[in-house]
Amino acid sequence: MTTTPEPVGDPAGSAEPRPRMIIDCDPGHDDAVALVVAAHLADVRGVVTVAGNADIDRTTRNALVMRDLIGLDAPVHRGCVRPLLVEPSPAAFVHGESGLDGADLPEPTTPLDGTDGVEFIIETCRAEEGTWLVPVGPLTDIGLAFRLAPDLPGCIAGVSLMGGGSFGNRSPAAEFNIWADPEAAAVVFDAFDPSTPGAAAGELIMAGLDVTHRFQVTPERIAAMREVPGQLTGLLVGLFEFFTETYLARHDDGALRGAALHDPLAVLAITHPHLFTSHRRHVVIETRGEHTAGMTVIDERDLRERAEPNCSILTDVDADAAFALVLAAASACP
Ligand code: RIB
Ligand code: CA
Repeated sequence: MTTTPEPVGDPAGSAEPRPRMIIDCDPGHDDAVALVVAAHLADVRGVVTVAGNADIDRTTRNALVMRDLIGLDAPVHRGCVRPLLVEPSPAAFVHGESGLDGADLPEPTTPLDGTDGVEFIIETCRAEEGTWLVPVGPLTDIGLAFRLAPDLPGCIAGVSLMGGGSFGNRSPAAEFNIWADPEAAAVVFDAFDPSTPGAAAGELIMAGLDVTHRFQVTPERIAAMREVPGQLTGLLVGLFEFFTETYLARHDDGALRGAALHDPLAVLAITHPHLFTSHRRHVVIETRGEHTAGMTVIDERDLRERAEPNCSILTDVDADAAFALVLAAASACP
């Protein structure tokens, strides 16, 4: 990961092999955009759904709808129905009851490919070494996969996740994806800790709120999307307007100019690393705190005694270049 954004190539048009990835998601407005971007810029080996923004039936239905709209040639597998220990806490106040409110979405036309998303993740990563796992919802599926297959962290290129941060959104301390299943998140972050026996050789990338709040669906970006012809772009405008409405209604005036478009950054961190600024830190997940459960505890101390880093934390993004890639990806869809 570089320390300053550089001119951005577009792997969609380059000779470079596209990075192989599995998207684990809880669509979710920003998850939907992550799927659009991944379909255009990566080799998507599969989509696995997880309970999070909405219940598993809704997130799975939404993933099937997005696959149709994008024209994505990849299987969709249903993942975990609920978090490992804590109770499910859907976020209808952000994404609506359907999980994708704001647009008149078509019914899915393609069937679900499987109902054991965790097994799909294990089988695919073992068969295709060097695959990235890109979770943009609660980490239930990934945590369970690592527990069922302890060899998995050694098979993958890494994990690029949306979650965490130096501040929270679901609580003062915790970001939603980590908060929604802290135990699963702890399994994933620990798997990359150099002090863990058999620690993953790949990279753990964290697109937390510190970077995602710098990537907003501003009115100018919604207007730019509206200019792009096509069924998908028209639906994305409706989704963006809904998502921004719920976001701005919950934030202080002037705090944001649009909803934070969190999830696609976890994809772009792999396809376009030069868009980002990052630093290496040790991160553990608080699972017990009465007020801090789900917190990503980031070791910012400049003490030699601090633990060796296990995570590349994204701290800034070239937001205009990133949104240009979102526009290009959406324009490439039918
Ligand atoms: O906190 C933001 C995250 O929670 C995003 O992944 C969004 O889709 C929700 O899942
Ligand atoms: Ca999500």
